[in-house]
Amino acid sequence: MVPFMRILGIETSCDETAAAVVERDAEGRGNVLSDVVLSQLDEHSAYGGVVPEIAARAHVEALDELIEEALKRANVSLDDVDAIAATSGPGLIGGLLVGLMTGKAIARAAGKPLYAVNHLEGHALTARLTDGLAFPYLMLLVSGGHTQLILVRGVGQYERWGTTIDDALGEAFDKTAKLLGLPYPGGPAVERMARDGNADRFDFPRPLVGEARLDFSFSGLKTAVRQAAQEIAPLSDQDVADICASFQKAISRTLKDRIGRGLQRFKREFPTTGEKPALVVAGGVAANLELRATLQALCDKNGFRFIAPPLSLCTDNAVMIAWAGLERMAIGAAPDTLDVQPRSRWPLDANAETLIGFGKRGAKA
Ligand code: KG4
Ligand code: ZN
Repeated sequence: MVPFMRILGIETSCDETAAAVVERDAEGRGNVLSDVVLSQLDEHSAYGGVVPEIAARAHVEALDELIEEALKRANVSLDDVDAIAATSGPGLIGGLLVGLMTGKAIARAAGKPLYAVNHLEGHALTARLTDGLAFPYLMLLVSGGHTQLILVRGVGQYERWGTTIDDALGEAFDKTAKLLGLPYPGGPAVERMARDGNADRFDFPRPLVGEARLDFSFSGLKTAVRQAAQEIAPLSDQDVADICASFQKAISRTLKDRIGRGLQRFKREFPTTGEKPALVVAGGVAANLELRATLQALCDKNGFRFIAPPLSLCTDNAVMIAWAGLERMAIGAAPDTLDVQPRSRWPLDANAETLIGFGKRGAKA
């Protein structure tokens, strides 16, 4: 039987510096003892996006204190943890270096094993911590850097069923916001404006809808928004609201088609074995209420459970990194050696080909 385990997690792959202490009991239940996240939003907002050099420096300044704080809030010392888990990719290389080197140093000094964790695996396994979900299940990761539909078969067993061939969904929100003069990050601003808009005013494209492959494409949508905005400029607040509402509607329609096909494929490949199948959502765009409603309705229609972990665990955090480390320990996976290197690109599914244009903006998730 797998014993009770406790781990310190560290996350620095993008613009959140985070540390957490998480436990896993012999039955596989998780318990979050502390969850500390410092967002660098203020440092980057003036630039309309994440600046890698600024991010790396901010991680250096904050990480040591954050780890101390995570241990303090958990009421444990380093002696009380069984291992250290640190994100080692994919992400911005400067930030990854800071977190992984810190993880190595602590592991070495405290004589604890180190688990170098794939950030995407953290997102992929979170629903097992929050909802005790059993394998297999489908996960939709929609963030500023990724848009992927992943089959999660087991710890370390992932199949990428779909990915974006150009912009990530969060990136599409951010770019649309920018060209409409809305603040960064764009997603919340677009969603707010869309509330008062007429979603039927503009008929924006829904790329790849109807195609059998499960990939996504959002750059054409962004171009259509730009053209519409130019045609009716100068834009009134109502114009902006109408564009935002129409943009979100196009995205909902696209996701309905793409994910709907994914759910059908899952049912074909895994004819029900008692339990209701599940779709999990992760990433910052999962905050969008229209997107959630669309996915919920789609799951209801197809007989799936829709699982959206609390938002603080959907966006970047160290709890998910700690949990991924615990999951690896639980299956008896060997820890990493101290010469493990950070990787700015690190697909979860080693067999998935790199699609043209994918990950242009760096490989942040
Ligand atoms: O996962 P996340 O917090 O960070 C990384 O990408 O690393 O995701 C951030 C992304 C941004 O592109 C942001 O615009 C988007 O999530 N986002 C939203 C909403 N809240 C955040 N997109 C649409 N609607 C929202 N309410
Ligand atoms: Zn992420």
